[in-house]
Amino acid sequence: MSENVRQRVESFSPPAPFSRGEGGAHSCQAPLSAGEGPGVRFRPAVLFAFLPLLALAGCFSNNRHQGEKLYAQHCASCHGDQGQGLERLIPPLAGSDYLTDHRRELPCLLHNGQNEVMVVNGVGYHNVMPSNKGLSPAQLTNLLNYIESHWGNEAVPRTIHDVQAQLDKCR
Ligand code: HEC
Repeated sequence: MSENVRQRVESFSPPAPFSRGEGGAHSCQAPLSAGEGPGVRFRPAVLFAFLPLLALAGCFSNNRHQGEKLYAQHCASCHGDQGQGLERLIPPLAGSDYLTDHRRELPCLLHNGQNEVMVVNGVGYHNVMPSNKGLSPAQLTNLLNYIESHWGNEAVPRTIHDVQAQLDKCR
């Protein structure tokens, strides 16, 4: 090992994306447990060699489940954990014809919320759907892809590019 590399290894500390945080690119959390805990000797060189792999694994698994997590955090309290809705107050997402009939408008609906009469599967609703201005286009994409592929829904997955383009039109 050259002197240069040795110095980098010895002075290595985990970079910012490994800190625990919410949302966006920073949600790529890699497990910090490697090398921690009783009986395991901390070996920076080994950690250094595997960190890029850990980071990748963290990103992939997180993005795959990001939609599900966001749904649980921001939506399930109203729409239900199976997208079943709540009687005449909250429309269902499960098997909702609104999702297919208004596909292109959904990014704006989630972003801005709405409070007008809305008909879902033949039932009229008039209640407040809150805005989600804190969610990024990437988060909205994962969220919509989650909703649109669960509970009997089977839409083609969205790309961030498409969602961004639809958001640009609604502002
Ligand atoms: C405070 C309760 C509440 C929360 C939280 C909420 N919604 Fe809604 N949502 C509603 C209501 C009420 C409507 C119907 C709006 C109307 O009557 O104009 C609705 C309508 C919808 C619709 C269109 C109709 C349908 O059922 O297909 C979608 C899609 C939707 N919400 C998705 C979401 C997503 C995704 C989240 C989380 C980011 C979310 N909602 C959070 C109450 C809520």
